[in-house]
Amino acid sequence: MAEVRLVGFLCNWCCYAGADLAGVSRFQYPPNVRIIRVMCSGRVDPVIILDAFLYGADGVFVGGCHPGDCHYLQGNYYAEKKIEMASRLLREAGVEPKRLRLEWVSASEGARFATIIKEFTDEIKALGPVTFEKEAMEAACLAAADYRLRIVATKERELLEEGNKYGEVFTRHEMDRLLDDLVREDYEVKRILLRLKEPMSVKELASELNLRPNIVLRHILDLKRYELVDLHEIRDHTPRYIARELSEGGITE
Ligand code: FES
Repeated sequence: MAEVRLVGFLCNWCCYAGADLAGVSRFQYPPNVRIIRVMCSGRVDPVIILDAFLYGADGVFVGGCHPGDCHYLQGNYYAEKKIEMASRLLREAGVEPKRLRLEWVSASEGARFATIIKEFTDEIKALGPVTFEKEAMEAACLAAADYRLRIVATKERELLEEGNKYGEVFTRHEMDRLLDDLVREDYEVKRILLRLKEPMSVKELASELNLRPNIVLRHILDLKRYELVDLHEIRDHTPRYIARELSEGGITE
């Protein structure tokens, strides 16, 4: 099986201590994982996860305290929502979501930590090294940083239990559809913006990004409304657009 590189973000108070115990107790686990200690699993942002893939990780593991044991009360709840968001974006970028795994491990579960890492490494080895189009992953990273997705990710429980400002309570199915739609839309918009470093028409964008022209046109009109895209020229009766940030230094290599 191919060698793979894994990154593990472990919460200081539980999973990191569990990993420490695994080491002290000499429980064996594969050396493929590079461990990064964080204060709480809730601090592991989707941008960091997607960046890890962008910079060469074949799998990412996030380990936190068991529900109810988070030292910052709700950190592991937010971790769960952030992982779900990152998984959706990985799927959009063409990467298997099972390359990302979240587990709860306590400070006394050294053996469990070793078993989980062994299982996860075997799973990633079976999948092989990750492959993706660089621009697709960059678009996923940009979408993960978008304020709209970040707000919805943290409001999920409120929308499911108390409802929106009109008192409309969402079902689980409605929430999943809303999140899927938002993630897809933000990802498509970021792909369009990255392509518009060069002037392009709606038709060209649609064909290169494998999107329907009416969807591209809708995104372009929104981007123009938010002054993120400009009309560059009209050539052969066809408008060609360019990302405004290009000239203002917002979208860079
Ligand atoms: S402190 Fe461990 S998950 Fe929050």
